[in-house]
Amino acid sequence: MSLQPERNRISANDLRVRKGGVPIVALTSYHAHTAAIIDPLVDFILVGDSLGMVMHGFETTIPVTLDMMILQGQAVMRGSRRALVVVDMPFGSYEEGREQAFRNAARIMKETGCGAIKVEGGARMAETIRFLVERGIPVMGHVGLTPQSVNTIGGFRVQGRDEEGAAAIKADALAVAAAGAFAVVVEAVVEPLAREITRSVAIPTIGIGASSDCDGQILVLEDMLGLSPRVPKFVKRFGSLAGAIEASVAAYAEEVRGRTFPAAENTYRPAGPVAAAQPRARIKGGRRG
Ligand code: KIV
Repeated sequence: MSLQPERNRISANDLRVRKGGVPIVALTSYHAHTAAIIDPLVDFILVGDSLGMVMHGFETTIPVTLDMMILQGQAVMRGSRRALVVVDMPFGSYEEGREQAFRNAARIMKETGCGAIKVEGGARMAETIRFLVERGIPVMGHVGLTPQSVNTIGGFRVQGRDEEGAAAIKADALAVAAAGAFAVVVEAVVEPLAREITRSVAIPTIGIGASSDCDGQILVLEDMLGLSPRVPKFVKRFGSLAGAIEASVAAYAEEVRGRTFPAAENTYRPAGPVAAAQPRARIKGGRRG
């Protein structure tokens, strides 16, 4: 009998059965702190390889490594306890073949404890997705604009505008679903195509730049918080954290320069005769610097 506490995280299967129901809410996170804040509010957290661009300032997601994904996946797992955590497989970690994909997906699952992985690509990835799912790895697909293919698709641009392109993306979504994925991200496609895909596949579609017709929505957290300097048209800035950070840092800089920070309440005093009789003061907040 297991001595583990009862599991109460949302699972991949819990999401699969939400097809057509109350829209699924998802955001990216790469850190324990932000994961802890969003955990009670979302259904799943994606540790996206967008971390390469958002955290590290790369131009694309191509340079992101498996070790980077595992490190941030571990952080998000430590910060969250309720939402399903999905970790992206980075470019070069799964495209070679199904054995390579299994080896690296298993590493992500073992070393982070996450509940699922995500791979980009439709029909061409179907065999790999089936192989992973049959061996116990829940897979989320990703079709439409697939940023890891930026160098072959010629930039980050809306997909499926012509009939041929739209048919290919629909076929991709169907292939991913037939291969056993529990959900599929549909990125940057025109509204009628998103609607048609959502109507055609039996698994939830998670839209990003794919209209309100999808079964759920995902955004990059920093984009919707107003931290990213440039965002695509499909992003709505629900907050303006860049301004709040700038104002806070400006206030801090002014107080340091004016010697008003640290103030008396932020300063430790030597132990006097009265203080010596008291138990030793503990550092509150846990940060020792
Ligand atoms: O890497 C990422 O953040 C993603 C989302 C944009 C879906 O794949």
